[in-house]
Amino acid sequence: MNTQKDNISYSAQDVIIPPEQFVLPTHNSDGDPIPPMTSEQIYEFDTHGWILFPEVITDDDLKEMQEFAYRLHHDPESLPEHERNTLGGPLQKLIDHPLVVSLLNEFTAHPSVTNSHCYGYTVESTTLFYRAEGMGGFGPHNGNGMLRFPGDVHYYNAFPGKGYSPHTRVVWELNEVKKGQGGTLLVTGSHKSVYTAPPEIQNPKSDIWDTYGCPPGSLLFFTEALTHSANPWTNTDNDRMAIFNLYSPVDSGYARVYQPHPKLLESMTEMRQTLFRSRYVVDNSKNTD
Ligand SMILES: [Fe+2]
Repeated sequence: MNTQKDNISYSAQDVIIPPEQFVLPTHNSDGDPIPPMTSEQIYEFDTHGWILFPEVITDDDLKEMQEFAYRLHHDPESLPEHERNTLGGPLQKLIDHPLVVSLLNEFTAHPSVTNSHCYGYTVESTTLFYRAEGMGGFGPHNGNGMLRFPGDVHYYNAFPGKGYSPHTRVVWELNEVKKGQGGTLLVTGSHKSVYTAPPEIQNPKSDIWDTYGCPPGSLLFFTEALTHSANPWTNTDNDRMAIFNLYSPVDSGYARVYQPHPKLLESMTEMRQTLFRSRYVVDNSKNTD
């Protein structure tokens, strides 16, 4: 059925279905191949609302990142001004690490604003959470992601064979996390729950909460539609040193698109720069060939 509006003709297919031909990046901005998610990983993220990849960064790479992040927290003045952030130095490559692009391609990319050299999402925030003993406050939020009205980006869409998480959190744990000693708390499956959370949600020790332990260099994803919370850090063997990156749709978002220092942005490849572009849909898939 065709409809007529403002002298433009639309067919039902044009309106409902995204472009038939779209290409997701198969390589990241460093030219590294993007591993497709396995069906088990896709099922786990969709069903649980979160997934952990242990020990993604190791050896010298990890050491370099740990040293930079430590310096960023304790002695930022020793870094050039444009590098005093979580996109500086060796940390920059985490923002479009192949595993990050892999999950975001599957669950977050907007098909009509992506191509092989342009990411289908933007970065909303990137922050270093450095926590010593006692730091970090309990504060449950979000959940019921299937029931959000338009205008609230904390939603999750699920259709037969396809999940969509527009607002996706990516956490790089650069130090070890001991289970139950300050890692993020998550309520598994709550992005799809349709009931209000019970009073137990206010108790961080309740079995309703899940959490994780992981070696340094591990990678955690969760949909912001999930009920989650920070938790005071109690591990006295090492501090928490986690980079929290948040990705949002290209056509909408919760806060503004993150703006890197201009000098830093300029130094990035054109493909990586697409993570920081303005939010709109029409003609917003840059052909960076
Ligand atoms: Fe959150």
